[in-house]
Amino acid sequence: MSPFLLTRTLPEDATEAALRADVLKGLTHTPKTLPPKWFYDARGSELFEQITELPEYYPTRAEREILVARSGEIAAATGARTLVELGSGSSEKTRYLLDALTGLHTYVPVDVSESALTQAGHALIAQRPELSVHALIADFTGGLSLPGTPGPRLLAFLGGTIGNLLPVERAAFLASVHALLSPGDALLLGTDLVKDENVLVRAYDDAAGVTAEFNKNVLTVVNRELGADFDPGAFDHVALWDAENEWIEMRLRSRTEQTVKVPALDLAVDFAADEELHTEISAKFRKEGIRAELAAVGLELAHWWTDSEGRFALSLSVVR
Ligand code: SAH
Ligand code: AVI
Repeated sequence: MSPFLLTRTLPEDATEAALRADVLKGLTHTPKTLPPKWFYDARGSELFEQITELPEYYPTRAEREILVARSGEIAAATGARTLVELGSGSSEKTRYLLDALTGLHTYVPVDVSESALTQAGHALIAQRPELSVHALIADFTGGLSLPGTPGPRLLAFLGGTIGNLLPVERAAFLASVHALLSPGDALLLGTDLVKDENVLVRAYDDAAGVTAEFNKNVLTVVNRELGADFDPGAFDHVALWDAENEWIEMRLRSRTEQTVKVPALDLAVDFAADEELHTEISAKFRKEGIRAELAAVGLELAHWWTDSEGRFALSLSVVR
């Protein structure tokens, strides 16, 4: 049987304090905002998995195509003994890396979603009894400390989740990633690429309405955790392309003028009709931009692979 260890580096009361602080700050800000990490309770993680199978949502399929084709090269280039994966979710695509990394000692999935980590952990125990799995419930933007497992380390950040960080957060995040790596370690980064606006908007506004439900799930999380009385049906899902910043923005537009109470914060929040609550950005990238952002923190782009349609890229970079 493989050892499966689940460590909580985020105490539950710290998580609640972080949610309270984010909701207070976000709902009293102009424009109103909520950070996307709060999408991912058990229902949100399940909805994200449904999104990955939608016909319109190409990133998961495109990244899987690259991993199928390139995991052998990634294994040969890194010789990783520890694979750390940030925002690992279901770890579904990771299996191509796990298969290819023949000298792997430990897999360290890191996520804020305990349900995703537990489900992925059970699947891994069943499929890979020889693998040691040390799962961490942790916020990857909050000063991670990793278990002392053998190097070289490969740190994977897949799915294009880096695009959910604002540019300033992204720069701080990449600097913290650099600080976690030693010479000989590598970063494997998944980035969605700039493309036709219609393709992008459809990927975030699917015909079946799953992304709309995912977006509204953040309101359900705030209702459950902070006793708020958001009516998800009183908001419309909005996905738009910001051409200047080259990112998709998801918002929730209030259908009417309404007041939402958040008792745990002693807060009443007024929404005007059509006022938009900003919930997520999903930035899309170009190769030279990624190279420059990596170089700015001391990482050197060593490999750049795309899927056959040039929609998504995986890059491997090394400590300079
Ligand atoms: N890597 C997977 C899942 C992507 S979904 C894939 O490519 O399909 C994004 C994942 O990141 C979710 O599982 C979510 O719970 C996690 N996540 C989001 N913000 C996070 C944060 N700040 N810290 C840790 N995990 C986070
Ligand atoms: C996790 N992340 C990369 C997804 C994305 O595409 O930005 C989250 C998502 N939001 C809406 N659909 C998927």
